[in-house]
Amino acid sequence: DKNIVILISGSGSNMAAIVNASLKGRWAERHGARVAAVVSNRSDAAGLAMAREHRIPTAALDHKTFDSREAFDAALMAEIDRHHPALVVLAGFMRILTPGFVQHYAGRLVNIHPSLLPAFPGLHTHRRAIEAGCRFAGCTVHRVTAELDHGEYLDQAVVPVLPGDTPEALAARVLAQEHQIYPKVVERLIAA
Ligand code: GAR
Repeated sequence: DKNIVILISGSGSNMAAIVNASLKGRWAERHGARVAAVVSNRSDAAGLAMAREHRIPTAALDHKTFDSREAFDAALMAEIDRHHPALVVLAGFMRILTPGFVQHYAGRLVNIHPSLLPAFPGLHTHRRAIEAGCRFAGCTVHRVTAELDHGEYLDQAVVPVLPGDTPEALAARVLAQEHQIYPKVVERLIAA
């Protein structure tokens, strides 16, 4: 069985899009694949409730209760590896991962970033795109390497930046595209 483990920190709308696609697309029958667990670094992440409604096992590991990034990542790896994942999907997971973690999941770790990489790695992508005068913005699904927001691009989607856009309005436009492309990339990888 090809287990998918999804890591979230917040609302989990990308996670929900992937879970819904897996059910609607019958990934279990067609690919032998399923979302096996959702893990968050925040116990109040809204996405955890949605996962539980789908009877998907969840876990929350509060990074603040660990002495170091390495200690947190070690606990995170132990939690993830209980599910023997074929693919680990970062979906709004807002922690920088250690090289050891990235190495451990080499070839089976992907992320979605809310910009047209290589433009705007890091935070506040929508505000920065508006301030720079970009006419287009978007999102990138990429393999995860030790360098933040780098790694092979697996798909991108483009949206216009409209006159008078706020970061929030642009974020919503981009997020709608994230929900389109991320499940497709995950299915492509899991079906390969
Ligand atoms: C998404 O826009 C995702 O691209 C972004 O956080 C949001 C999470 O939304 N990720 C990053 O900024 C990663 N540095 P969601 O929890 O509703 O999927």
